[in-house]
Amino acid sequence: MASLNAIAQKLVESGKGILAADESEGTIAKRFALIGLPVTLESRRDYREMLFRSTEAMTNYISGVILTEETLEQSAADGTHFRDILAEAGCIPGIKVDRGTMPMPGSKDEKITEGLDGLRQRLGHYARLGAGFAKWRGVIAITGYAPTRNGIRSNAHVLARYAALCQEAGIVPVVEPEVLADGEPGDHDIARCEEVTGETLEAVFSELRLAGVDLSGMLLKPNMVLAGTRAKDRPSVEEVARRTVATLRAHVPAAVPGIAFLSGGQSDEEATAHLSAMNQSANLPWKLTYSYGRALQTAALVTWGGDPANVAKAQEAFTHRARMNSLASLGQWRP
Ligand code: 13P
Repeated sequence: MASLNAIAQKLVESGKGILAADESEGTIAKRFALIGLPVTLESRRDYREMLFRSTEAMTNYISGVILTEETLEQSAADGTHFRDILAEAGCIPGIKVDRGTMPMPGSKDEKITEGLDGLRQRLGHYARLGAGFAKWRGVIAITGYAPTRNGIRSNAHVLARYAALCQEAGIVPVVEPEVLADGEPGDHDIARCEEVTGETLEAVFSELRLAGVDLSGMLLKPNMVLAGTRAKDRPSVEEVARRTVATLRAHVPAAVPGIAFLSGGQSDEEATAHLSAMNQSANLPWKLTYSYGRALQTAALVTWGGDPANVAKAQEAFTHRARMNSLASLGQWRP
């Protein structure tokens, strides 16, 4: 079995990043609403098959794919397991293991992620199916009431319990504390996001250490430091890059091999531009790459539109975004 560190290093191999294709049934329904397509087992399968059979993108620009429980066990229309299609392209299959968020008791506007019950058994099953890594998302909202210290610490604690269980099963935990940019009201400025992101990362690494998690065998999947989606003042690309890198340097130990960002509602091009600008910083102690859902998929989804005749064009759109983000992970993308 490959060591946790070897898997983590491979996931952040130069010029590659992760495709997040782990939308829950509810989330994929929201994405399909963009193209007016009903969500069925077949439509989800056909859409994901279109992505996973984009051979150029998957081979050259994607190191691993975060799958849902459904997709990890699913086959393409011709009966080939998705896991085998990914293996053929040299991609590591990963699995989203959290069970979504619930309102935090006694707290306004805050959520806690569920899914620890039975997780040890589930991880054993996923490891036998070949999953090399897993993902768990904790959500931190910025509102007039949130976040509270309790909200941040509870989510950090649950992330650490998840991460320790993953490592016990030989699976690399991708630890995702997302400070929301696109929540409600979403009008906070970038300085507020910087403060909350710093506090969140501090709590997460404190809990990871307490839980005995091997930092060299995990990846961090954070938000970038951004203004809220509805904030009037829009920071420049340089400001986002500078504040994000400064926050990470202050709170993320160098033992962590890589940081793979979520896109969090940024436009495709913003997500690429921000990543590229960050990778132009000197002496970064970790790899900085992408673990995007929407910013890798939206162009392909809209081009596909649910029509089999559009598969090749949709794959080109996906490959283009993957190539642009690959360049950004090397600091080589230019507008
Ligand atoms: P986005 O890049 O669309 O934010 O999704 C990434 C992800 O995996 C969220 O959990």
